[in-house]
Amino acid sequence: MNFIDLRSDTVTKPSDAMREAMARAVVGDDVYGEDPTVNRLQEMMAERVGMEAGLFVASGTMGNVVAILTHAGRGDEMILGHLAHTFLYEGGAAAGLAGVHPHILRNEDDGTIDLDAIEEAIRPDNVHFPISRLLCLEDTHNRCGGAAIAAEYLDAAAQLAHSHGMSVHLDGARLFNAAIALGVTPAELTRSVDSVMICLSKGLGAPVGSVLCGTRAFIDRALRMRKIVGGGMRQAGIIAAAGVYALEHNVDRLAEDHVNAARLAAGINSIPGLRVLSPPQTNLVYLEIDPTQMGDTSFDAAALSGRLRSEEVLATPLGSNPYQMRMVTHLDVTAADIDRTLTVMRDAVR
Ligand SMILES: Cc1ncc(COP(=O)(O)O)c(C=O)c1O
Repeated sequence: MNFIDLRSDTVTKPSDAMREAMARAVVGDDVYGEDPTVNRLQEMMAERVGMEAGLFVASGTMGNVVAILTHAGRGDEMILGHLAHTFLYEGGAAAGLAGVHPHILRNEDDGTIDLDAIEEAIRPDNVHFPISRLLCLEDTHNRCGGAAIAAEYLDAAAQLAHSHGMSVHLDGARLFNAAIALGVTPAELTRSVDSVMICLSKGLGAPVGSVLCGTRAFIDRALRMRKIVGGGMRQAGIIAAAGVYALEHNVDRLAEDHVNAARLAAGINSIPGLRVLSPPQTNLVYLEIDPTQMGDTSFDAAALSGRLRSEEVLATPLGSNPYQMRMVTHLDVTAADIDRTLTVMRDAVR
């Protein structure tokens, strides 16, 4: 069956050309630092984000927890948003593996956290309190509709954190989407943070992998943490080659995904009973079913996604709200797929 898979941008399949690059990759033992393809990928990504060094990791989750382990120690406190991926969807790794105490503040709809709230949350030096060590931000912000957060906000938040002796980690799983949406370079978005994690396995279309970037000294310490969590891989150039290919070929085309997301959102808003939660800035579209307009409260996101599936269109009910669901555009979804999806959606709610 020929499914249009809008569940996530993680579902992309490596293209023939990417597979070819993987098959031909020059490899070595990366735990000895001897894999030329891994080294190349790390250097390429570090250069893109204007940092000294990069570290290839198995996943975004691994990159975030390695960053937390490197920045903070047991009992230290990390400030982050209540809708942060690191807080919601990473198995409690910050607490479970790093022993770091999450201090949760409210995310605004645009994915930011109010700067006054951050300032208020930072602990004074007192034996009763954990030490405020790390601020974690996310760009684009997944649960805030794929919002692209501007460099000026990141600069201001980082300046605030730094003035209190804290470090700043950016979950940039979709950093390139943010840069394209904002019309800036990735390095402009990361110029004030201390570390950033970027995923290769989402819109960039690689089958696996993320890169954590920071100063040379930070990455040297992160290398040890990656080993501790079992992330020391050997001839990893085979998979890093997909990342190199993705950086060379799949960055600029992310703009197409944004156009397709906007087309999808406009179409959804024209279907009675459906509405997008906010106009998509990047490739994520969050939508809501209005059960009163539908005249049937049992017609929820699970029911809608069931009907879509029977027409070979896949989307994810959110879980946290029975009437909300997420659709994601990516490099295996065309404009024609969006049009077909909208036809199927129109029929499904009729
Ligand atoms: C914002 C964000 N950060 C981190 C991750 C984790 O990436 P991975 O699934 O590779 O562990 C995701 C995955 O969807 C994400 O959306």
